[in-house]
Amino acid sequence: MSRPLLIAPSILSSDFSKIGDEIKAVDAAGADWIHCDVMDGHFVPNITYGAPVIKAFRPASKKIFDVHLMIAPADPYLADFAAAGADIITIHAEAGPHLDRSLHAIRALGKKAGVSLNPSTPESVIEYVLDRLDLILLMSVNPGFGGQSFIPAVVEKIRRVKKMIGARPIDIEVDGGITPETAPLVVKAGANVLVAGSAVFKGGTEASYRANIAAIRGAATSTV
Ligand code: DX5
Ligand code: ZN
Repeated sequence: MSRPLLIAPSILSSDFSKIGDEIKAVDAAGADWIHCDVMDGHFVPNITYGAPVIKAFRPASKKIFDVHLMIAPADPYLADFAAAGADIITIHAEAGPHLDRSLHAIRALGKKAGVSLNPSTPESVIEYVLDRLDLILLMSVNPGFGGQSFIPAVVEKIRRVKKMIGARPIDIEVDGGITPETAPLVVKAGANVLVAGSAVFKGGTEASYRANIAAIRGAATSTV
């Protein structure tokens, strides 16, 4: 059974001075999920926002809030992100020593559990936690910034992860450098959730977000 193709705009590329309006605009423009990038200036070389800010913009949309934690440690903050309104909480496998425990903690908070892998991290690290996972987020750039170029080696990793999960109900999400040009490659390899920041928010208006989302979705679905 193939899982539905979903587009998750990364609000990292939105105008932070009016983030609530930007979320409303991408929601109306056809976003399936809202992808929130949390960075700590330690695990990644950039700082964005934390749980109180997510709580503040949570009322802007009823869609799934897909919270990508690029923070180390993550465990002490999981409850805060759950309380702020995250629906999916994704941690990095590289960010802590006890992945199994962290994933268990996310589900114990009643949230969907995701794990993210940096481009250089082999997929074997998730082999023994597959039954604790709702989502696998494969980075196709080194995390920290929007607007970077897609790393083609991730395509083979997607294929391997797809094979590894078998019939389990796990989403495969790809993040970084997704455009109408790269989307077909990752979908063909087995990804079903596409994060896109700069490719969605270029243009700065709801009409351009609608056209940008449609272009990614159209390119992705034309291959399957
Ligand atoms: C990068 C973030 C991404 C980023 C993607 O560290 O995890 O979600 O916003 O931006 P684009 O789509 O511009 O590569
Ligand atoms: Zn992200």
